[in-house]
Amino acid sequence: MKAQRISKIEHGTPVSLIVNGQEIQAQAGESIAAALLAAGQRQISQNSKSRAPRGYFCGMGMCFECVATVDGVPNVRTCITEVTPGCVVETGS
Ligand code: FES
Repeated sequence: MKAQRISKIEHGTPVSLIVNGQEIQAQAGESIAAALLAAGQRQISQNSKSRAPRGYFCGMGMCFECVATVDGVPNVRTCITEVTPGCVVETGS
């Protein structure tokens, strides 16, 4: 899927991360959630009981709708976690 970014603003240094086994491109300084959204991935987690898809909601670390496993650490709020080169993200858990 084509990255969904505003073309007329200055972006950070390109970095890549691994999401569910696939490499996606991000910009240094942006959050993991922003990188996922830009890559077209809306679902980040799921409801533990109903398994309904959950995703980016508040964007400021309050709702926990965007949690994922990052570099083996579960329940990381991706909206307030900056991408690091080569970080490994597992969504949907
Ligand atoms: S979107 Fe609400 S905590 Fe991340």
